Amino acid sequence: MDTSGTLETGLRRDEAYALLLRFNEDPYHIKHAEILEALMAHFAEEYDPENVEFWSQVGLLHDLDWERFPEEHTVKAEEILAEAGASPELGYAIRTHVFPHDDTAPKPVAKMERMLFAMDELSGLINACTLVRPSKSVRDMNLKSLKKKFKQRSFAAGCNRQDIELGAYLNDLTTDELLALGLEAMQEIAAAGGPVD
Ligand SMILES: [Fe+2]
Repeated sequence: MDTSGTLETGLRRDEAYALLLRFNEDPYHIKHAEILEALMAHFAEEYDPENVEFWSQVGLLHDLDWERFPEEHTVKAEEILAEAGASPELGYAIRTHVFPHDDTAPKPVAKMERMLFAMDELSGLINACTLVRPSKSVRDMNLKSLKKKFKQRSFAAGCNRQDIELGAYLNDLTTDELLALGLEAMQEIAAAGGPVD
């Protein structure tokens, strides 16, 4: 999508968060949404500072419908968002993150869409890595151990390694560069008291 100029979601942050809670009960899903919100805000500051709020809400709401409507993932979200008065741009951006698994979804083109795709599975992998650490924190994790867990496909097998590789490719990064970028971002978010442990 064309992201030149300022993008509007049509929702205030509190309205977006209320929508998240209306369609999600699982604390893991809510936390995943909050982590993606923080990650997208973090990268927007660097790549598209004019649109931090838009990137943030894309992160917060990207899996809005996953818990209740997994068969219609992102299609249903687009409908819910339209009914809630959100801009079509918000639903469209969210639709792009399922593109390898849904032929009807638009491909990620904007940096915002490519970063959403890249961070979605990677944040899950990093989160899984923190849970098996003695500290239970990302703060003392090093890149070497993340790379090792990335290669160990039996670890957090639900985190799609191919999607992580594809996310790196979409952003003109090597997989190792993407792992480093994601780890550093999550460490900064944790240090700032954000939703990352
Ligand atoms: Fe997600």
